[in-house]
Amino acid sequence: MRTRPLKVALLGCGVVGSEVARIMTTHADDLTARIGAPVELAGVAVRRPSKVREGIDPALITTDATALLKRGDIDVAIEVIGGIEPARTLITTAFEHGISVVSANKALLAQDGAALHAAAGQAGLDLYYEAAVAGAIPLIRPLRESLAGDKINRVMGIVNGTTNFILDKMDSTGAGYQEALDEATALGYAEADPTADVEGYDAAAKAAILAGIAFHTRVHLDDVYREGMTEVSAADFASAKRMGCTIKLLAILERAADGESVTARVHPAMIPLSHPLASVREAYNAVFVEAEAAGRLMFYGPGAGGAPTASAVLGDLVAVCRNKLAEATGPGESAYTQLPVSPMGDVVTRYHISLDVADKPGVLAQVATTFAEHGVSIDTVRQQGKDGEASLVVVTHRAPDASLSGTVEALRKLDTVRGVASIMRVEGE
Ligand code: NDP
Ligand code: HSE
Repeated sequence: MRTRPLKVALLGCGVVGSEVARIMTTHADDLTARIGAPVELAGVAVRRPSKVREGIDPALITTDATALLKRGDIDVAIEVIGGIEPARTLITTAFEHGISVVSANKALLAQDGAALHAAAGQAGLDLYYEAAVAGAIPLIRPLRESLAGDKINRVMGIVNGTTNFILDKMDSTGAGYQEALDEATALGYAEADPTADVEGYDAAAKAAILAGIAFHTRVHLDDVYREGMTEVSAADFASAKRMGCTIKLLAILERAADGESVTARVHPAMIPLSHPLASVREAYNAVFVEAEAAGRLMFYGPGAGGAPTASAVLGDLVAVCRNKLAEATGPGESAYTQLPVSPMGDVVTRYHISLDVADKPGVLAQVATTFAEHGVSIDTVRQQGKDGEASLVVVTHRAPDASLSGTVEALRKLDTVRGVASIMRVEGE
């Protein structure tokens, strides 16, 4: 057992960082035994130095994260500041000074992961980020290591805790959107700017990271099709219920049947109540992975929150410290396949469309013809009259997204169609 401690710089001490510091302190002896050397919290960089931080020696606090990294004795930096800058510059500075990095920053990794991996590789250092996707759930390492010998064809899951919390509350208690978002924020689930959660950017960042690892290719945040959940209404939940479904914000990553391209998308979708993802409540996440040899695997657990996320960060810290002692590094980026990411129009799935139409003869035939003209086959139609108008709910068979968009565009031009109330994809059947 080495007695000289490995020194850790904690960059950020908010919801996640404060829990990392707490566990490092309370579990110090176990961490020492598991790593084979003591780990010491050597400095904590924050924005507001005067804030009271329970359990943290005030002498460790600094507002100069760069100076902390440059002082010459740091072995590992834990970046839990979030956002692009100063996080990106600090991680780069860490690599320039021989410091391995653990990060929970999905926004940065989805945008600049390739450059950061390259910088870590050139410096012969580690970049670990288990906490960046799905909170406490071990997912990055299983994909990167346990499934490295298999071929992953599909990943589908709930990867944002805040939006799952909101959708679950709206569905199960009838809570309003803002009320549920405020609760998720108070519980420490939401991003500093919750727009990242509700507009799907956070899930899209996680989708980009997962797709890159699963398909051994580079998928940038901009490659991921994204729709948020702010438009999901009580009426959508009522429609979903009538179909025996609920609504979840899903991330879906697929390898094309010919293996020559991939798709990556994030959007709300109806899923049958019988599907395991339908019963994922509150801020829990769950991810299905379909691999050629392994078959279907499911990963489930807390997807957000200080302590659960700190668990993933600490797991990475132990791994990186072990690597340091062994004078080795863990696996770096594997992006050898260079598969193109196809546009959303190529994705094939089912749709639930609600139309407000005139309640008069021939409307149904006109609508059905429009679907047929665009090659979209109808599975079911339900019509409900209301004061000279009618609500028409059409559920399609599987069709390319581009065909569905063309259909909707044409439907909007029909005199008898007063409006398209909602369009939602149907998944998991
Ligand atoms: P918080 O906003 O709670 O904490 C951010 C911390 O960074 C604060 O301590 C803040 O200081 C510090 N900080 C901000 N700017 C600077 C700066 N310029 N220099 C030094 N310190 C700075 O965020 P979270 O803990 O919730 O999230 C941190 C990261 O973890 C993000 O990347 C997030 O996406 C990710 N994550 C979060 C999860 C969660 O459930 N919350 C789950 C999984 C990942 P001060 O305290 O003084 O304000
Ligand atoms: N805001 C994120 C979420 C934190 O709600 O999932 C976990 O990544």
